[in-house]
Amino acid sequence: MKIFIDTANLDEIKEAASLGILDGVTTNPSLMAKVGIKGKNAVIKHYEAICKLVEGDISAEVLSTDYENIIKEGEELSKIHPNIVVKVPMIKDGIKAIRYFYDKGIKTNCTLVFSSGQALLAAKAGATYVSPFIGRLDDVSSDGLQLIRDIALIYNNYCFETEILAASIRHPMHIIECAKMGADVITAPLSAIMALLHHPLTDKGLDIFLKDAEKWK
Ligand code: E4P
Repeated sequence: MKIFIDTANLDEIKEAASLGILDGVTTNPSLMAKVGIKGKNAVIKHYEAICKLVEGDISAEVLSTDYENIIKEGEELSKIHPNIVVKVPMIKDGIKAIRYFYDKGIKTNCTLVFSSGQALLAAKAGATYVSPFIGRLDDVSSDGLQLIRDIALIYNNYCFETEILAASIRHPMHIIECAKMGADVITAPLSAIMALLHHPLTDKGLDIFLKDAEKWK
C-alpha cells in the first residue's frame, strides 16, 4: 500500500518524507489556501517545490469545471513535472477530460468520489487514481469505509487498473481498515500517519529496557 500525505505544507511534507515511507502527495484548493498560496505563479512554484521534496506522484487539482478548460489547465499542470497527476472532479466534463488525458498518457486522480457508481465511471474513463472521501461520508452518517470495500470488489471483478486512493482520512484506524480492504493508496494528514507510530506499550517497554540497560552499562 502506498502512503501519500494530504497537505500543501512543505514542512509537513519534509517531515513525512524524512521517515522514508512517503510515496506521494495530494493537495486540493483548500489545502493550498491554508498555506497562503495565491495566484497562478505561486501555485506553480509551490508544486515545483513539492516535486523536489518527494519522489512520487503529486496530485494537482484543476479549478475549471468545463471540458475545454479542464483540458487546458490539466495540460499546463502536467508540464510542471513528470510526477504531476492532474486531479479532476467527478463531474460529467471531468469524466470526459479523464478519458482525454488517458489517451494522451497524462495521469489523473478523479476526486470528490462518494459512490461506487462514480468510481465505476472513473475507472471506465481510465483514471489513474480514484479518490473516495471516507471522512466526509462518515461526517454525514454514511459508512466511508464501506465505500472502499465496495469499490475494491467492483475493481477486482473486472481487473480495472485504476488505483483506489482512499482520501479524507481522519485518524489511524481509517488507514488500518483501508489496508485490510486492499486500498492501493491512502492519503492522510501528517497527524494520522504519525499516529501509526505510537503504542503506549512500546513507550513503556522502551523505558524499561533503557533503565535496565543502565544496570549493566
Ligand atoms: C485529497 O485528495 C482530498 O482532497 C482530501 O483528502 C480531502 O480531505 P478532507 O475531507 O479532510 O478535506
